[in-house]
Amino acid sequence: MIPEKIETTRGRLLLRYFTEADTQTVYDIWSNPANARFMDAPESLEDVRELADWNNGAIQHSTNKDIMCHFRVVTLKETGEVIGTCRWHFKKEGKEMGFGYNLAEKVWGRGYATELLETIIALAKKCEVKKLIGGADKENVASWHILGKYMNFVGEENYTESDGRVVVDRNYELNF
Ligand SMILES: CC(C)(COP(=O)(O)OP(=O)(O)OC[C@H]1O[C@@H](n2cnc3c(N)ncnc32)[C@H](O)[C@@H]1OP(=O)(O)O)[C@@H](O)C(=O)NCCC(=O)NCCS
Repeated sequence: MIPEKIETTRGRLLLRYFTEADTQTVYDIWSNPANARFMDAPESLEDVRELADWNNGAIQHSTNKDIMCHFRVVTLKETGEVIGTCRWHFKKEGKEMGFGYNLAEKVWGRGYATELLETIIALAKKCEVKKLIGGADKENVASWHILGKYMNFVGEENYTESDGRVVVDRNYELNF
């Protein structure tokens, strides 16, 4: 059982469940153009609620019963301020784990994503996952730079967005 509240490896952040009161803050973070460049932006507050619900209970909504998602808001431990979101999911009967995070632009460059990835790796070990899987858009240099510090680059993958744009992802794995 994964606890609701998770303190990160370096003790600066606290992950906790999303609540209704977080909706506007999360909406503002996700819809900032600098964030939306690489992540899906919500069109409304309702989108945020739905995504949080979906992530928290994906097993009920997903057609793939093998996927179980977890979603938390990322807060500064000292002040409680919400500075982003993160999620992880298990697949292949818990043998594999994927993840993602999205942080407010005002806190970029402080090593928080690095701290989050360390925490996710620790969580994967605790859950006895065999493989951790991550990926980032080739143009999202900061993101794949962080992945590359802890995980192994396994190749690039092209896919076409609904608007016809071709995106290149850099994929990373860590085997335990
Ligand atoms: C990507 C993101 C999570 C990074 O968060 P962060 O807290 O700023 O990351 P950190 O401070 O831990 O580390 C950033 C690293 O990237 C490096 N970096 C940042 N911008 C860079 C750039 N343009 N080119 C090269 N390196 C860059 C930093 O130097 C740092 O590396 P270092 O620790 O070796 O010096 C954050 O920008 C974000 O939330 N972006 C929007 C959503 C997103 O892209 N999420 C990830 C999707 S895969």
